Amino acid sequence: MRYALISDVHANLPALDAVLDDIDAIGVDAVYHLGDLVGYAPWPNEVVARIAERAIPGVAGNYDSTVAANYKHCGCRYEDPRQESLSHLSYEWTRHHVSAATKRALAALPFRIDIRLAGGHVAGPTATLVHGNHVLNTVYVTEDRSDEFLMRISEGIGATSQVIAFGHTHMPWHRVVDGVHFVNTGSVGRPKDGDWRAGYVVLSVEANDIDIEFRRLEYDVERAASGILESTLPGEFAWYLRTGGKSLAAV
Ligand SMILES: [Fe+2]
Repeated sequence: MRYALISDVHANLPALDAVLDDIDAIGVDAVYHLGDLVGYAPWPNEVVARIAERAIPGVAGNYDSTVAANYKHCGCRYEDPRQESLSHLSYEWTRHHVSAATKRALAALPFRIDIRLAGGHVAGPTATLVHGNHVLNTVYVTEDRSDEFLMRISEGIGATSQVIAFGHTHMPWHRVVDGVHFVNTGSVGRPKDGDWRAGYVVLSVEANDIDIEFRRLEYDVERAASGILESTLPGEFAWYLRTGGKSLAAV
């Protein structure tokens, strides 16, 4: 079985469409998303509609659940005051542009999904999908977290999963601790690792062998940048996409 795991699309329709085309080209058995469908780019309704059209199940990211719940902010972390004010502008823009149908779709997203990778009718490994960690979708599980921290997530899930996949940091990585694969899928629509290309993961399972492939794809980033610049979103977000996550202050 081969599964595509896509996360943090963040309303970037050109990036999502490039990833879906690639998924169609390579052929997988199922696609799941790991949340943060909206925020930072001008196509929140179109992205949610595309996910529904393709019947892609997934979990609630912090952006999805805060927009759905009319929370006071997106639950994001800021590195400086400028980033914080841009983030608030994005959140308010998104809240005012999501349709009632989009909001309902975001509200309906589950917090966590467990997949029996061999199907569930026979014994086999389990993958658990969350956005942040198993407690909150706002927790950043970064690559430098200790083995102990990661094992606490595994224990919190019930130590039943051989794969624990999440997004939220927009930085792809994979570590195996005590036989458990911890996989950060990176981001489709707003990478932060300095590589502007859309990223996602293909998880392949053959008997009990688990393989994780990180894929990166060029997409029409200028279409995404123009969409941002033509909207009332902060223009800095266009630069951010073109540079794979460099803020203007950093250049
Ligand atoms: Fe995100």
